Amino acid sequence: MSDSASKPRKPPRSTHWFGGTGKDAFIHRSWMRNQGLDDRAFDGRPIIGICNSGSDLVPCNAHFKGLADKVREGILQAGGVPLEFSMMPLGETNLRPTAMLFRNLAAMEVEETLRANPLDGVVLMAGCDKTTPALLMGAASVDMPALLLSGGPMLNGRYRGQTLGSGTHVWKFSEAVRGGQMSSAEFSAAESCMSRSAGHCMTMGTASTMACMAEALGIALPGNAALPAVDARRHTLAREAGRRIVELVREDVRPRNILTREAFENAIRVNAAIGGSTNAVIHLLAIAGRLGVPLTLADWDRLGRDVPTLVDLLPAGRFLMEEFCYAGGLPVVMRRLAEAGLLHEQAPSVAGGAIGPHVTQAECFDDEVIRPLSNPLVAQGGIAVLRGNLAPGGALIKVSAASPALLSHRGQAVVFENVEDYKARIDDPELPVSADSVLVLKNCGPKGYPGMAEVGNMGLPAKLLAQGVTDMVRLSDARMSGTAYGTVLLHAAPEAAAGGPLALVRDGDWIRLDVATRSLELEVDAAELARRHADWQAPPKPVSGWARLYVDHVMQADSGADMDFLVGCRGDAVARESH
Ligand code: FES
Ligand code: MG
Repeated sequence: MSDSASKPRKPPRSTHWFGGTGKDAFIHRSWMRNQGLDDRAFDGRPIIGICNSGSDLVPCNAHFKGLADKVREGILQAGGVPLEFSMMPLGETNLRPTAMLFRNLAAMEVEETLRANPLDGVVLMAGCDKTTPALLMGAASVDMPALLLSGGPMLNGRYRGQTLGSGTHVWKFSEAVRGGQMSSAEFSAAESCMSRSAGHCMTMGTASTMACMAEALGIALPGNAALPAVDARRHTLAREAGRRIVELVREDVRPRNILTREAFENAIRVNAAIGGSTNAVIHLLAIAGRLGVPLTLADWDRLGRDVPTLVDLLPAGRFLMEEFCYAGGLPVVMRRLAEAGLLHEQAPSVAGGAIGPHVTQAECFDDEVIRPLSNPLVAQGGIAVLRGNLAPGGALIKVSAASPALLSHRGQAVVFENVEDYKARIDDPELPVSADSVLVLKNCGPKGYPGMAEVGNMGLPAKLLAQGVTDMVRLSDARMSGTAYGTVLLHAAPEAAAGGPLALVRDGDWIRLDVATRSLELEVDAAELARRHADWQAPPKPVSGWARLYVDHVMQADSGADMDFLVGCRGDAVARESH
């Protein structure tokens, strides 16, 4: 490509830094020249950020160095200038008390980094759970041309001839150890067999779900979600991402042009079709909020309700992302939705034009892994939103991961005030609990934990596990890992720590849920609930620091748990010079 052809039609925003002859331009250029940049870097060609969320502290994204080099090559090939930068580590497995406490902080960091620097566009490199939403939220609030590249899933885990899925088998095996069916030595041996290659969780957990969401939203290239991290074609895709972002800057295609209402509707239906994580609900609500796209929990229920789950992956089904890739990946799912009239084919894609033509030719190579519409894994696979006096703002359940027999249930509450209370008493042989009980966990929501930890899939009482019980109804204001399964009601809003009705549940209260009618009721009369509410005291807040700012400003789960002051798009303009 010639130099003139590589230049955008109008001077890019980086010209305000690097163009001209004054003192400020001298300063902006001179210090960058110490990296060997020459005059060509400052002649008005697109300056492209590579936002690299990988580091040694984010194992799922630790391979991003090599991948970023491929993005860099693509940017150079298309006539842009690549500038890579890092961000705070958002490693799901390492961060305490929960990575979710820092999603909004990282999004704020990304937003301010993009706006404050001489950048015209950005490739967002994401993988581990919170990295995808944090980067998309930040980029959406700046509305600078952006394209998301996922790092790809790990290869299948293998242990003693058995296939292991990230997360899902940790939950299964730890229950087996507690129930006495697996030894601790075997449990330890499985550890290194589960995570045996670069990449993020290879179940249809939150990371793979969010990679699929990015692809379904059109903000990632077709094929982005399924290619394993170590597949050479992931490098090819990274180079293509580098070339495309330069084009997007030239065409002035911004997140608000891609992330339309129709794009979100596509993503919600795709989530149902892949049996995706409940975490996608909260993340997509937050991303939509950054762009002013109206999106509600009711949209999730309504749009996903009749969409069948086609993808037979753990935790809802049998296979893993490697098989999903070999079967044809997400374009096949989108093609099948399109054929059922469940895809807005005219929604845009960063690949260019509408998304429809990028997926409607996709071939399926394994109908067991990506099932046809005529033989779905679950006929109605969407995430159901239940409401009632126990959760006026809604509570979610992933129907495909629940036990059909428990989808309509009446049971007595066994209440845990917080996660410490749960851990202290769950295995107490004297705990008055049966398989019909409803385990209730309070104070694990956005304000309560703080950060809305993934503790909603409470392990079952050891004495019931030993009796062979495999599932029970669980209810909380927490989230659960996308790799988890069971009849788990999550995200109850308003949360207990905000004085929601969940705070008023007591041991022995009867709870009735019915997924078919979307109802969740506490069978306690309003007068008694009012008495209990008068006695209720809010838990103490963190005294200072980020946790205090978070608790003071985080919104409830049904609004995406973003900070109230971060909602909206603030654009890419900066009024003042720095000197
Ligand atoms: Fe990083 Fe699962 S822990 S993707
Ligand atoms: Mg997680």
